[in-house]
Amino acid sequence: MRRFRPYLRYLKPVRRPLIAAIFYAVLFALTNGVSLPALIKYVFPVIFDRDHVGLPLGTVILIAATIPVAFLLRAVSGYLNSYYIQLSGVRILEAIRTDYFRKLQQLPLSFVQGKAAGDLISRGMSDTGQLQATLTTLASDGIKQPVQLIATLATLVVFAFGDQGVWLVLASLALVPLAVLPVRYVGKKVIKRAYQLQTNLGVVTTRFAENLAAAREVRAFGLEERETERFAAASHDLITSQVKIAKYVQALTPAIEVIAAAGIAVTLVFAYGTGIRESTFVAIITALYFSYEPIKKLGAMNNEYKRGLAALDRLEFVLHEPVTITDPAQPVPVGRLAGHVGFEGVTFAYNPGEPVLHDLSARIPAGTVCALVGPSGAGKSTFANLVPRFYEATAGRVTIDGHDVRAMRVADLRRNIALVSQDPVLFNDTIYHNLLLGRPDATRDEVLAAAIDAHADDFIRTLPHGYETIVGERGSLLSGGQKQRLALARAFLRNAPILILDEATSALDSQSEQFIQEALRKLVVGKTVLIIAHRFSTIRDASMILVFDRGQVVASGTHAQLYAGNALYQSLYDRQHSAA
Ligand SMILES: Nc1ncnc2c1ncn2[C@@H]1O[C@H](COP(=O)(O)OP(=O)(O)OP(=O)(O)O)[C@@H](O)[C@H]1O
Ligand SMILES: [Mg+2]
Repeated sequence: MRRFRPYLRYLKPVRRPLIAAIFYAVLFALTNGVSLPALIKYVFPVIFDRDHVGLPLGTVILIAATIPVAFLLRAVSGYLNSYYIQLSGVRILEAIRTDYFRKLQQLPLSFVQGKAAGDLISRGMSDTGQLQATLTTLASDGIKQPVQLIATLATLVVFAFGDQGVWLVLASLALVPLAVLPVRYVGKKVIKRAYQLQTNLGVVTTRFAENLAAAREVRAFGLEERETERFAAASHDLITSQVKIAKYVQALTPAIEVIAAAGIAVTLVFAYGTGIRESTFVAIITALYFSYEPIKKLGAMNNEYKRGLAALDRLEFVLHEPVTITDPAQPVPVGRLAGHVGFEGVTFAYNPGEPVLHDLSARIPAGTVCALVGPSGAGKSTFANLVPRFYEATAGRVTIDGHDVRAMRVADLRRNIALVSQDPVLFNDTIYHNLLLGRPDATRDEVLAAAIDAHADDFIRTLPHGYETIVGERGSLLSGGQKQRLALARAFLRNAPILILDEATSALDSQSEQFIQEALRKLVVGKTVLIIAHRFSTIRDASMILVFDRGQVVASGTHAQLYAGNALYQSLYDRQHSAA
């Protein structure tokens, strides 16, 4: 139970429905545990005993009416208990799920990128769902069942002293502790399988998500059969673990019922010859039944608890992951930065021990258009991604205007940077809203101006719904070049002092690229621009070029200087020009 303690705070906002649920739970338990055995003991004899022959019909009706009244009370309290539990449950679920989602927003990019999206979704959907089921079951049955057990035992004791049945009652209860054995056995079996079950659910979701994201590749490479087989295998594993859990969970109730039947048999043996009244005997049997009932439910609760533990493990894997990219305790106050970017002896590794940038130093003065060139995998994108602090340098420091990026508030830092990534993503919304993400307080005129500068306006106007066109998931309804122009417009609109363009024009035809170059020339005035491009036409008129090779800056200068003095630059340049 200790594991769940930090999560009990989720119960606090729902305490009203929860208190209502508990109230009705107690009422329900008392109705079961006390009123039903009492009905049998006190009401039936009135009808059946010979001494009562000749009762007026009205009295008989009244006596009979107690039965539906008791059941009505039981039905209403049972219903309201379930209703309020469900109500609290869904609210708890909502809160847990949102917290999980919020945590995913805070975690470093490297964490999210390193995990399968489907698995993270599955944790957020089905594990939170399981945790909710566990918390509500514990909150409801945790009260209802013990109350019912105590109430029935108390009823039994009262019956025992009222009649001559003390020994009889004790005998009938002798087997109750035995019922704990199957509960414990099943609980142990469930815990391992529950973890497996949740993991398998994650795998199935991952297969779904991955397949849908690669819909084109699947068709292009004819992977339909392979994908279906992989999915079927994951799905089969899931079903197998579901069946394994069901096998144990479903065995619990019959096992306890057999023990209960044995209890009744023992009671019968002891009852023989005691001259106990039939009605008292049936009442004891009823009470006995209602005392095994909570044990069954407590057993089910135990299973639910174990499954909750498994879900919790999987949620805490994310919830307890440290948020490494955090605001400093005393952040340097920053408004609009000038944009002087410095790397001082920066080493960086995605995976510990495998650095991709080695002791790298560079200075990019404010207002410089700086091109990063070099072979694929040399570390250009990595370099650019360290500026907005998407990752943390392993050693050394990245500075802007002389301040370590770790000394600023993350939001302040990133407000000063506009980025067009190698693979820009749009949200499934209108073009207008996608552009507005660049700067939510921009006016419509500013949005249109940015679109015109990015040479996006003309194609947007040819679309049937213009700026109100929905772009599809990740922008899938647009061409690569159209997506890039929107991403550029979004970055222009941001009007940040530092602009990072990672292959931002690679999908454009050479004419559009030329237009964009012109627009860039206007826009970059007074801004620091890091531009990564394989096409030399894009970078030739950068005022500074950094040449990357195997995680280091091996040369820097202007095109003319580098072409004359750096063999790598010269060969990269010549290869492209001889190809063209
Ligand atoms: N998320 C990641 N996790 C682990 N390794 C990565 C990750 N991203 C990049 N790398 C590795 O880091 C190295 C540098 O990658 P980077 O993306 O910076 O290269 P690049 O110069 O931008 O190449 P390209 O011109 O092909 O875009 C490569 O060896 C790459 O395999
Ligand atoms: Mg790259």
